Amino acid sequence: MSPFAEPVEDDTPPKALALQDLQLLKALGPYVKPHWKILTLSLLLLPLISVTQVLQPFIIKQAVDGPITHHQFPALINDALLFLILIIVHYGLRYAQMVLAQMAGQRIILLLRCDLYDHLQSLDMRFYHRTPLGKLVTRLSSDVENISDVFAQGGIAIFSDLALVIGILVAMAVMNLQLALVTYAVLPLVVVTMIFFRRRSREIYNRMRLQLAELNSYLQESLSGMDIIQLLQRETYNAEAFKNLGRAFMKTNVRSVTYDSAFTAAIEFLSWLTIIAILGYIVLGSPISFGLLVAFLQYIQMLYDPLEEVSDKYTTIQSGLASLEKIAELKAVKPQITSADHAIPLSLAKGHIQFKNVSFSYLPGEPVLKNVSLEIHPGEKIALIGPTGSGKSTLIKLLNRSYDPDEGEILLDGIPIQNYDLSSFRRQVVVIPQDDFLFSRSLQENITLTYQEPVDLSRLKQVTRTVHADAVVDRFDTGFQTILAERGRNISQGERQLLGFARALWHDPRIIILDEATSAIDPHTETLIQDALEKSLVGRTGVVVAHRLSTVRNVDRVYQLSHGEIIRSGSPEEILQ
Ligand SMILES: Nc1ncnc2c1ncn2[C@@H]1O[C@H](COP(=O)(O)OP(=O)(O)OP(=O)(O)O)[C@@H](O)[C@H]1O
Ligand SMILES: [Mg+2]
Repeated sequence: MSPFAEPVEDDTPPKALALQDLQLLKALGPYVKPHWKILTLSLLLLPLISVTQVLQPFIIKQAVDGPITHHQFPALINDALLFLILIIVHYGLRYAQMVLAQMAGQRIILLLRCDLYDHLQSLDMRFYHRTPLGKLVTRLSSDVENISDVFAQGGIAIFSDLALVIGILVAMAVMNLQLALVTYAVLPLVVVTMIFFRRRSREIYNRMRLQLAELNSYLQESLSGMDIIQLLQRETYNAEAFKNLGRAFMKTNVRSVTYDSAFTAAIEFLSWLTIIAILGYIVLGSPISFGLLVAFLQYIQMLYDPLEEVSDKYTTIQSGLASLEKIAELKAVKPQITSADHAIPLSLAKGHIQFKNVSFSYLPGEPVLKNVSLEIHPGEKIALIGPTGSGKSTLIKLLNRSYDPDEGEILLDGIPIQNYDLSSFRRQVVVIPQDDFLFSRSLQENITLTYQEPVDLSRLKQVTRTVHADAVVDRFDTGFQTILAERGRNISQGERQLLGFARALWHDPRIIILDEATSAIDPHTETLIQDALEKSLVGRTGVVVAHRLSTVRNVDRVYQLSHGEIIRSGSPEEILQ
């Protein structure tokens, strides 16, 4: 990606929480199902927790109006003991509930995360080319985390708060109906305040999310293109762009804090207003017992605490749902390159390749390959030549089914390649790309691409020696166990292609496709690559995207491409003339 790219597009308009969100929850179904028992148990504990909390002021009232008022202190012991038991049970249950909810939540999240990873692995190159990587990383990190927060802090807690609020309202009415009605009178104000702030916080929250995604995308892109940025001295420009994104995010954050603080203040104010209303009720000539007053003060406290937090929890739920929506969208992306329904397993291909009038475009209306036909018999080696951008790499991407053609057919051993089982097909066709990708794992793992199974070391050594990659391995003291730098930065392009040959030969496919490195490679390495190519193509069908005369000379036939069309084909001698 270029360091000058526009920041990611605003991909979600702020949305209201609505009925359709309940539909969204269905998306979680498959992940919740295996853990429903723990989740249900944790939900069942919620009413018990509320009851044990709501009972507390009852005991206080009884103690104040009874033993304390009448100075019967020995009798107070009973109330104190009762209270002690109640709070031990209450906090014990709370602890158990939190642990259970977290346990279920974390397990559900693990399932979700792994399932998404599997899904991403099934998606094709077309998807990866149009999706910024930063976005996908966000799906598997912060979006998954947001859903996890719903279990940890929001979703389940909001049920318990609701249970508590209802419990308190009922308990107040049971204790003293008139006094309870005075308290209820303030509640409509609370509801209005909550609705007012909720709407604003939702908008701000959505904006914050988008801005953070932009910031992350920008960061990721500029870090991976740091060499270009420094070469072209775009540091000041990029710093300015980053600062602008950061500033916008900061402003939204400050606004969010302003609203949150105003909301907290408003709710606290209303709680005091309720207390004033109760005192007013007493002043107006309705004396109540001291114990009742104490109990009501406690209830009011209990009532407003969850109300104050409800907006936080609501935000958590909302962000969880927004993330769930993005994840569901990602899950809904169907892989375009798949095995057919009655796919043919390909155990050993002969290596007969035919392109029949194949056309292809990455973007609609911009054809990259036009009506390409060619035939390669088993064991033949052909070269593709042509100016840069003429479609050589694209042609081989069609051949290994990174993409499927828009028109025409590609046949292997007389059968359209779409009809083969995809993974068995790909095992027969190995591409050594222009700029082979290396992982930050050991050299051995980079060649074998197996991370766990034991590896036949003598075969590995033989394979690397055959393609002259042993020099690369020997360059390091730790040999095959050398861990490469990220993306294999410490390996040159020539070495990369040699390792590519080793990787291809290790997997022993019937068809090897080499996309020759475009950059200058020293004559010695070039000879090595030539030799590696010849040796690895023995008994195999070979397709080489050639940039060097020496390569072209050694093949059976050459196809020359120009603007996506084959303009000439023939023996190397004919073409070279
Ligand atoms: N992922 C993509 N999305 C859109 N267009 C693409 C994509 N990949 C390649 N193209 C376009 O397709 C055309 C052919 O590209 P291709 O990579 O096949 O060229 P090439 O012949 O391999 O060139 P080179 O010799 O430089 O490797 C180019 O115009 C390129 O811009
Ligand atoms: Mg190319």
